[in-house]
Amino acid sequence: MNNVFELYKEVASAFGPSGRETKITNVISSIAKKYVDDVYTDTLGNLICRKRPPVGSQENVRKIAFAAHMDSIGIVVTYIDDNGFLRFSNIGGIEIQDFLHTQVIFENGTHGIISHEEKTELSKLKINNLYIDIGAKNREQAEKMVSIGDFAVFTSPMFEQNGVISGAYIDDRIGCVALLITMMKLPKTVNHDLYFVFTVQEEVGLRGATTAAYALEPDIAIAIDVTDTGDLPEHKYPMACHMGKGPAIKVMDRSVLCSQKIRSALEEAALVAAIPVQHEILQFGGTDTAAFQRSRAGVEVGAISIPTRYIHTPNEMCSVNDVIQTADLLLTAITQTL
Ligand code: CO
Ligand code: ZN
Repeated sequence: MNNVFELYKEVASAFGPSGRETKITNVISSIAKKYVDDVYTDTLGNLICRKRPPVGSQENVRKIAFAAHMDSIGIVVTYIDDNGFLRFSNIGGIEIQDFLHTQVIFENGTHGIISHEEKTELSKLKINNLYIDIGAKNREQAEKMVSIGDFAVFTSPMFEQNGVISGAYIDDRIGCVALLITMMKLPKTVNHDLYFVFTVQEEVGLRGATTAAYALEPDIAIAIDVTDTGDLPEHKYPMACHMGKGPAIKVMDRSVLCSQKIRSALEEAALVAAIPVQHEILQFGGTDTAAFQRSRAGVEVGAISIPTRYIHTPNEMCSVNDVIQTADLLLTAITQTL
């Protein structure tokens, strides 16, 4: 099960919008438990996988946390009308145009498609002009399938082609995959206390990472997430980050300025392992990195980002090689430069 696409399909198929991560947690923990010493969840639902240092080793042993968020963006039902159409609100950031004519699936397996009120001009559509059609005849039938407060996620076909993979929720299931591959490839003993943290509720404001960071109190934290790419036609702003050109070592985003020390250790690991890397300056958004950095008296942080096209749409895309190299970069950092 080391194939990136196979692993992605398994992890990305699991239901897990922010706040409703039980299913994705079960999938990841069943894969992860073979490779670490302890697996547990905390109060908010973060999944924590610990690989302990050898017994007796004290010197230079550092507590290092790696974080990837397992929650995804989604929607929540707010209202069911007499004709059986559902109104909804967003969980996490989704642009109106990315909702139109997409398929969604609820935790109980109910399917729906999202459409819009036709008399409103497309450019003037707000989320309140959209609705979900589950094919119900009326409210009564709809209420047998879906309740107010039920969550749903996009469902998109997944494919691998030309060295790239596509599907919903590469953000950040692909970061989870990169961490799983890293765990699979770890040497038998590592002279650090390693915590692989699969966080919850990142998409609604880094909430899981906030409490995990506080509880774990790591010396170092490194987040793995996706980043935008500047390689598309008429891209809005210049960005020196391309899909397929290697993992991007984060310099900054709107939530964090990464520690120079950790950034250097990651750059050094890239040199040692001859991995091509890019540098990420993301002009919007944030990641779990920020929550770790500001925990307690502060934590040294870095981040590795997987360049991803069409982030927060139902069809995201990234390069398989970038994922493999992200895991290799982490491994080299863990064993040689951190
Ligand atoms: Co996201
Ligand atoms: Zn993300």
